[in-house]
Formats: sequence, C-alpha cells, structure tokens
Amino acid sequence: MTAYFVYVSGEQLGLAKAEIAALSSLTRIDGEVSWDGRLGLINALESPVPFILERAALVKEAGIVLVEIGARDNLFDHLSDDTVLNAIKSEETFSVRTISENSNFSVDERLELEKRLGKYIKRTVSAGVDLKSPQVRFIVILNRNHIRLCKAVGSKLRPMLREREPGRKPFFHPSMMNATLARVMCNLACVMPDEIVLDPFCGGGGILCEAFLIGAKSVGVDLNWQLLTGSRQNLSLIGSDYNVVQGDVRHLPVHECDCIVTDPPYGRASSTRGARAIGLVESLFERADAILRRRDESICICGSSEMNLRDLAESKGLVVSQFLQIRVHRGLVREILSIGFQ
Ligand SMILES: C[S@@+](CC[C@H](N)C(=O)[O-])C[C@H]1O[C@@H](n2cnc3c(N)ncnc32)[C@H](O)[C@@H]1O
Repeated sequence: MTAYFVYVSGEQLGLAKAEIAALSSLTRIDGEVSWDGRLGLINALESPVPFILERAALVKEAGIVLVEIGARDNLFDHLSDDTVLNAIKSEETFSVRTISENSNFSVDERLELEKRLGKYIKRTVSAGVDLKSPQVRFIVILNRNHIRLCKAVGSKLRPMLREREPGRKPFFHPSMMNATLARVMCNLACVMPDEIVLDPFCGGGGILCEAFLIGAKSVGVDLNWQLLTGSRQNLSLIGSDYNVVQGDVRHLPVHECDCIVTDPPYGRASSTRGARAIGLVESLFERADAILRRRDESICICGSSEMNLRDLAESKGLVVSQFLQIRVHRGLVREILSIGFQ
C-alpha cells in the first residue's frame, strides 16, 4: 500500500474535500481520504494521482508521501538514501520547496531545511537543481503536528481552467457559470467519459463545456435562443459534438441522460420570463426520476440559499448526499447539492 496526497486550494475547503471524495469514489483507494488541513491523505495500491490531477479543479498538487514524521522530529534522521534513489534518477532535475500550514517553523528554518534537503538529494543521486521547471518536485509540508516530505506534481488543469473562464470564451454572458465551479460540479456528479450530461438551464454553456472536456456528451436546453447560439459558439470552439435545443424545463424535450449538472436562474443575470425559479426546479425534480439512467449522485445543482433546494429535493423524495454553501458576497450564498435516488 502506498501513501498518496492531494494538496487543495484553501478558498473553498469544504468544496475541495467534497470534490476529492467524489473523485476518489471513482478510483480504487483503501478506506476514505483523511484530512489534515488542506492536505488529503490517501492509501492505495494503485496511484489515484494521475486521475485526480486530470479531473480535480481544486487540487493544486498531488503525489506520493515519501516520509511522514512528527513536527518535532528531525527529517534527516528518517530520510534514507533509498527513499531518494527511488524518487529521482540522476539525469533528472529537481526543486525543493516547503509549505507551511500554521506550522511553528520560521522563514529562516524553512529556507535552511530547503537548502539542506537540496544538498542531500544532490549528494545522493547527483541530480541537478532546476527551480523554474524541474522534472521532479519535492515539497515538505509542515504543520503543527507533522512534517511530510512528498514528491509532487502540480496541477496542469488549474491554469487551463483560468484560460476557460467565461470572459475568455468566444461568447460571454454574465449568467454563465465559471469553468472552475462547472468542473467541480461535474466531479460532484461523478461524470464519466461517454456519459450523457444534461444541463436543462444551459445558457451560454459553461457547464456543458466542462462536461465535454471530461469526455462526456453534452446536452443542453434553454429558453433563450440568443444564449443557445452563444453556447453553440463556445462548444464549437472546443470541438464538442454537442446537442443543444431551445425548450422549457417544464416540458423537457429530453428522454434519457446519465446525469444532470445545472444551475437554475437566480439573481438579475438570467431571466425566467416571469416564472418562479423554484417552480422551474420543482418541475425538473419531478421529471428527473423518469429520465436519469444513473441513480447515485446523478444530479448536481447550484442555487441561491433563498431557493432552499435541499427542502425541495427532499420533499420530492430525492436523497441529498452533499450540501455545501459558498458565500459569494453579503447578499448571496450559493448552495451546491449532490442528489440521487433512494
Ligand atoms: C444561471 S443561467 C445558466 C448558466 C449555465 N448553466 C452555464 O453553465 O453557463 C440560467 C439559465 O436558465 C435559463 N432559463 C430560464 N427559465 C428557463 C426555463 N423555463 N427553461 C429552461 N431554461 C430557462 C435562462 O435563460 C438562463 O440561461
């Protein structure tokens, strides 16, 4: 069994943990992910790291835990040449960095540790240092209770998500969902390649784009044809064989899909043409049973706290397995729910 780690963004810790829980349910890990601050620890026979790095929007880095000791222990008393020799080849370049999570280490102590570890690795494998683009990255994660030396790989997805934010897409509308949250929601719904993902309030296609980039088939419905034209532009640019149609969620022109990832209209950015947004979601929940092929966590929906989507889902007999709140600003708290069937 090998110990692996994920180090997540600190902005939305609850959401990051939920994303990892959903993704790890799609891999073969031993037991549950255990958390020490922003560090998630995973035991597995097979590395879940490539899959998590490819999928997770809120993971900054991930990799193998090489050494784990108490915060008062001396790393060099526990570090063997074999550990280093197994982690890096002599022809590779490397960097060493420390991350402090409320640890008692001063900046000087951290610098000293980085320097000493760098020298140790160089002496053991005669690999070269490259701080800008190393082939192997060693990070030492320090917190109040532990020192963990890890071999890490940084997320390539996160910079790509920034490139895909709504303002950078060919078509933009303020109601569009940002790429990071769209990706997290697809992950909470455990979207897998080749599944059919429906967004019945697809607007400019923020969610549909991420679903397609995971490898799923994107199907969208929206009332507003201008937004649908925009979603077609956005989906075409990434080569999606999308299927988007003008329609009303109250009379969904879709008979079957594997999951629903969506955000109903709320706030001023999107119009409902006079209908109550909550009534639209009610229609969706009533129809979900008939059209969803997958039963577990097959709906991920994001709405404002005023909509109280949890009560609505439960009143329709649906099972809410995740309920997360994100404070957007003083007047708006977003709620994200993973929903399935009994
Ligand atoms: C918050 S936006 C959706 C953003 C989109 N999910 C994304 O990923 O970018 C809500 C959308 O619901 C659409 N809408 C409003 N009433 C609707 C209805 N009755 N049926 C279908 N879509 C509706 C609006 O036109 C708007 O595009």
